[in-house]
Amino acid sequence: LRYRRAVSFDDLLADDGRVEPRDEMPDAYRRTLVRQIAQHAHSEIIGMQPEGNWISRAPSLRRKAILMAKVQDEAGHGLYLYAAAETLGVDRADLLDQLHTGRQKYSSIFNYPTLTWADVGAIGWLVDGAAIVNQVPLCRCSYGPYARAMVRICKEESFHQRQGFEILHTLSHGTPAQQAMAQDAVDRYWWPALMMFGPPDDDSPNSEQSMAWGIKRFSNDELRQRFVDMTVPQAEALGLTLPDPAIAWNEERGHYDFGPIDFTELFEVIRGNGPCNRERMAHKVQAHEDGAWVREAASAYAAKQAARSEG
Ligand code: 3HC
Repeated sequence: LRYRRAVSFDDLLADDGRVEPRDEMPDAYRRTLVRQIAQHAHSEIIGMQPEGNWISRAPSLRRKAILMAKVQDEAGHGLYLYAAAETLGVDRADLLDQLHTGRQKYSSIFNYPTLTWADVGAIGWLVDGAAIVNQVPLCRCSYGPYARAMVRICKEESFHQRQGFEILHTLSHGTPAQQAMAQDAVDRYWWPALMMFGPPDDDSPNSEQSMAWGIKRFSNDELRQRFVDMTVPQAEALGLTLPDPAIAWNEERGHYDFGPIDFTELFEVIRGNGPCNRERMAHKVQAHEDGAWVREAASAYAAKQAARSEG
């Protein structure tokens, strides 16, 4: 029996309430949530590849252990988010098929290569830092299961960001070669990290509706600005230079000004023409196929357990 709360969807949103799986909700709201949560989950899983590349090459056992824990966390984030998406009546296998056949997206940022160990630091500091800025407001998303998944994910993200900062701090206070490696990583990851927040507000087709539904609490540009304001002082503490000479504090605005972003790069990467798109998808599809036997064994075991409990 469908559980009908006395309050309507619109009243629930007007009271800043939480929509739960069995509440009435517009189909378009459901579709937007499936789109965003599934793509968020895909991003977490694909995001394991660039950093995973350095687990066997980490410079010390301590760094290896930390990186393994972080990559394992990302897998967990993906699973929480697929579980949140499934509360909307979709099947995870279908979402994965949509990812593998290019009908669903994942974050542009994971299509860049990790060329040196310093990239692991830049990803932790910048990419997870940007993810925190984007994900904290999602803890107040109008859809209950997504908001609750975010609370736990955000707690783990702060560890991710701090370990990245620490890697870069170690390198930027190391030998000249280490300093150069850290600076090179920041030079390559800064602009793609700003692009993670999406297209500019005047070119963001989903934002207006997502904000009206309480899914998106702040616009792409607002969160991007918040990330720049948070990160510039941290770069100074690291002794690293952000690759944008236009960055300057604007007393009047109370924010840092920064240079124009080349959004054609974002749209090209989203279209599949980034440095690593093909490699990332080929690896993902191969891993999925290699894992078929595990899924079959788990289903067979579950069927046996079910038969036993009915027997
Ligand atoms: N990469 C890939 N696609 C992107 C993108 C990006 N950086 N930014 C925008 N897009 C896509 C959108 O998905 C949308 O396409 P679609 O309609 O087919 O889904 C299109 O470009 C237009 O963008 P909009 O701004 O209109 O779309 P949204 O309102 O959905 O905003 C978003 C985009 C800000 C990414 C929003 O979807 C969001 O906040 N998602 C949840 C957070 C998320 O997915 N983060 C990705 C990184 S996960 C991560 O970093 C994990 C950490 O542990 C490292």
